[in-house]
Amino acid sequence: MKFATNNKKINEIKSDCLMISVFDDGKLRGAGKLVNTANGKLIDDLIKNRDIQGKIGQTRIIPVTGKTYKRIVLVGCGKYEDFSQKHYRKALISALNKISLTNHKKVVSLIHDGVDKIDNPKKAYRLSRVLAESWHSISYQYTTTKESNYRKLSLKKIEIGTNGKKAIKDLKMGLKHGDAIGNATQLVRHLGDLPANICTPSYLTSMARKIVNKNKSASLKILNEAQMKKLGMNSLLSVTAGASEPAKMIIAEFNNGPKSQKPIAIVGKGITFDTGGISLKPSNKMDEMKYDMCGASTTIGLLQMVTELNLPINAVFVVPACENVPSSTATKPGDIVKSMSGKTIEVLNTDAEGRLILADALTYTQRFKPKLIIDMATLTGACVVALGSHHSGLMSNSDQLANQLLQCGQSTDDVTWRLPLTEEYANQIVSNFADVANISTRGSGAGTITAGCFLQKFVGEHDWAHIDIAGVAWAEGTNKGATGRPMGLMSEFLINESKT
Ligand code: BES
Ligand code: MN
Ligand code: ZN
Repeated sequence: MKFATNNKKINEIKSDCLMISVFDDGKLRGAGKLVNTANGKLIDDLIKNRDIQGKIGQTRIIPVTGKTYKRIVLVGCGKYEDFSQKHYRKALISALNKISLTNHKKVVSLIHDGVDKIDNPKKAYRLSRVLAESWHSISYQYTTTKESNYRKLSLKKIEIGTNGKKAIKDLKMGLKHGDAIGNATQLVRHLGDLPANICTPSYLTSMARKIVNKNKSASLKILNEAQMKKLGMNSLLSVTAGASEPAKMIIAEFNNGPKSQKPIAIVGKGITFDTGGISLKPSNKMDEMKYDMCGASTTIGLLQMVTELNLPINAVFVVPACENVPSSTATKPGDIVKSMSGKTIEVLNTDAEGRLILADALTYTQRFKPKLIIDMATLTGACVVALGSHHSGLMSNSDQLANQLLQCGQSTDDVTWRLPLTEEYANQIVSNFADVANISTRGSGAGTITAGCFLQKFVGEHDWAHIDIAGVAWAEGTNKGATGRPMGLMSEFLINESKT
């Protein structure tokens, strides 16, 4: 897809389609007004006859003659006073979806015209970035194991119109960023949707290698099980103990910022399938545990995003990857392992495995003396109970970092919600036989937080945040599929960091 700005006046735009917003008050604004007048009050007539009511997501493709454009695409945007970025995104997604069913090749979006200020740098950036992201969101297709999911897309070019104004650099920047974020989000979804018999730890490794090979500021290191053993990563190894599929630790460095700058560390849980191990999960919906590597896929997606944009940033991406399956060699409840940090862990439940692989990954990450560490993990079913599929769960030992991430979530419609990490919760994971237990031994409840407390024991004094994405990383039911979250939130964070 080609993304570009279009600074022609409305009546001179050459395109197959023009996208125009219609609000539920029936009042036309900006480009809508101009197009209406140029076409004999055609839109007024449609509104009056309630052919379109302006509900969010409603679309009508209207043919016109004798103009430099062939179609008007009316896009419902809801209540004018409530029009937000989220509504804008929703409107774009349904309009682009509709257009993608046609043979039209080029579309110019003027949804924002007369509504938002396209000459304001911050606004312009958001408007164009969301436009590019929306295209990637609707054009994602999972075809690897189902070819009939393929549909040919005729649309080749999407432009954002300025109605005669000069396109400011932020408008172009938004398109560029949105394109890279969108590409990376598609990768995150693809890796998530792949079944566990294809998307193994080795598969994730090859994906990271492909990305690293394309950028000379990036380098890759893969640890195999023997190397992990040498480093004392017995916590991670206890999770893979039952598996014949080899575990991998993927470490990608991207050093494209000032030499003096400490790297940002990103860590993602990469359980390519979680059966629960000896503490076996029930069969219902167990297939969804192929998504237990969505922290890892987002980490790899972020690696792709920073390399594609060549962001001036230093970052390290760490993915502990393995399967959690039972066998006669699998770890048993009550087994005690010594983690790389030196802390001993009583594995009371082999299904609380994410924290075990993350413990060693977080310890290893400290070698890079990072400025801060952020991990992402489909860590607890309790997070799905607490927050459902709308907010991810955020925990942090730094108010500043937590606030930054909360803000990034708001700016990108990829929202997160902070949970407390006070010592009362940490006191729930004591063990009579080891330094720490991998589940609560003192009362039930707060499963998301006690998991966070466990991780906190392995980050030392570093500023750190943990994002539990168990509820947001994939959708279930008829729309089953990876969402790509929290790519939006996290790419925002890294882009911000690259500017400091
Ligand atoms: N990967 C799961 C968490 C999960 C479950 C995510 C369901 C999304 C949907 C994790 O490894 C797990 O099994 N956690 C246990 C922890 C418990 C044993 C303390 C859980 O949440 O039940
Ligand atoms: Mn588990
Ligand atoms: Zn898991």
